[in-house]
Amino acid sequence: MSYDVIIIGAGPGGYVCAIRCAQLGLKTAVVEGRETLGGTCLNVGCIPSKALLHASHQLHEAEHNFAKMGLKGKAPSVDWAQMLTYKQEVIDGNTKGIEFLFKKNKVDWIKGWASIPAPGKVKVGDTVHETKNIVIASGSEVSPLKGVEVDEKTVVTSTGALELGKVPKSMIVIGAGVIGLELGSVYKRLGADVTVIEFLDQITPGMDGEIQKTFQRTLKKQGMTFVMGAAVQSAAKKGKGAEVTYKLRKDDSEHTVQADVVLLATGRRPFVEGLGLDALGVTLTDRGQIAVDGRYATNIQGVYAIGDATPGPMLAHKAEDEGMAVAEVLAGQHGHVNYDVIPGVIYTHPEVASVGKTEEQLKEEGRAYKVGKFNFMGNGRAKAMNAGEGFVKILADKETDRVLGCHILGPGAGELIHEICVGMEFGAAAEDIARTCHAHPTLSEAVREAALACGDGPIHS
Ligand code: NAI
Repeated sequence: MSYDVIIIGAGPGGYVCAIRCAQLGLKTAVVEGRETLGGTCLNVGCIPSKALLHASHQLHEAEHNFAKMGLKGKAPSVDWAQMLTYKQEVIDGNTKGIEFLFKKNKVDWIKGWASIPAPGKVKVGDTVHETKNIVIASGSEVSPLKGVEVDEKTVVTSTGALELGKVPKSMIVIGAGVIGLELGSVYKRLGADVTVIEFLDQITPGMDGEIQKTFQRTLKKQGMTFVMGAAVQSAAKKGKGAEVTYKLRKDDSEHTVQADVVLLATGRRPFVEGLGLDALGVTLTDRGQIAVDGRYATNIQGVYAIGDATPGPMLAHKAEDEGMAVAEVLAGQHGHVNYDVIPGVIYTHPEVASVGKTEEQLKEEGRAYKVGKFNFMGNGRAKAMNAGEGFVKILADKETDRVLGCHILGPGAGELIHEICVGMEFGAAAEDIARTCHAHPTLSEAVREAALACGDGPIHS
């Protein structure tokens, strides 16, 4: 069998690429070694974590907010086994959905792990498949941290954290990034004491500074404990739980803490093992990512790469967009991704969402900008939802009024951000958003008010 394109990896990058290739008339196959399609995101990442975040949020609401709304009675108790079943059903529904889409689009699934013995050849087991083009979409894996002994039961990565035997009484999270704060939130809501140990002095590196501060305050209010400026030296199983040693950066003092479970969440690295990239002569960056040009081509003719295995933010939607773009390139079109408009969302409660430049970046670039801010407390719908915490902050060019970035902490932030993304893609000025009629009462009105705040001022503050 000979193909126009074989894609290695069926995560969000690979499976989206495959469907688009097939839609564009290319004979397409995907090699995937997991039992199910969907990669890390659908099997052990984005989707299962959102199932647990959703379920645990319902409990939090029942425990803390129902009585105020006149919903009296005992909050439900946690049936952890059932919550894991629910999570698994969500995963199965999604992964089977991709299988259906492959059949519908006539994409072949070659089961197994691929290597590339030569350009135009993909080896799976003992079979070598011929193809005009190869797209590597092999994703990422957890970066190990020196001194941390992961056993996926007591000292876990995000994978183990999604299937713990029981809800721990205490959890130490190493790293205040997206994974640590999302999964830390899940277990905090389910009743664990959660302590986050972070190397830097602020959480969520790269986010807008004002968001970082407010977000950390919010999480502290929810009961999460933070140890900041602390470099973890070691973590290992000890007795029935685990022990973590860290050094405070300010005075080099060493501290030891214990918990039932430790979650390692200090970042991910490209997963390219077994592909044979060395022998093939594929150039990697100094961070071990596959180097690609603007058309996602590697230095080897006919070999392309996308997603977490390549430079850029490790986000499912970045990989999806690259998957579509490279499919278009292979079909002779002009695939393109606008890296200036890639949103980032943290699915805690409240949610955090951002796109474009942060205030810190604009200052560093010496750019003249203005800030339009609006608190959700002034938004009727948020108040009706008992969710008045947080704000929308729009950054616009001081002279042209063009939107340069937006940062939201608040209810539905992960949905609201897309209004700004669309606006930015169209080169919108803050005034364009401010003059667009927004339905009342909606959370989206807070976005409009922030846009109004870039001009003559918001109405409701
Ligand atoms: P991250 O890079 O977001 O955060 C890691 C944190 O660990 C950083 O704050 C870093 O300063 C800290 N750290 C590093 N070494 C440390 C040490 N020795 N001691 C204490 N702290 C230390 O990494 P994370 O959360 O593991 O996520 C990995 C990737 O997956 C990220 O690129 C993230 O964007 C992506 N992801 C995205 C999600 C989303 O979009 N909602 C959800 C989950 C993951």
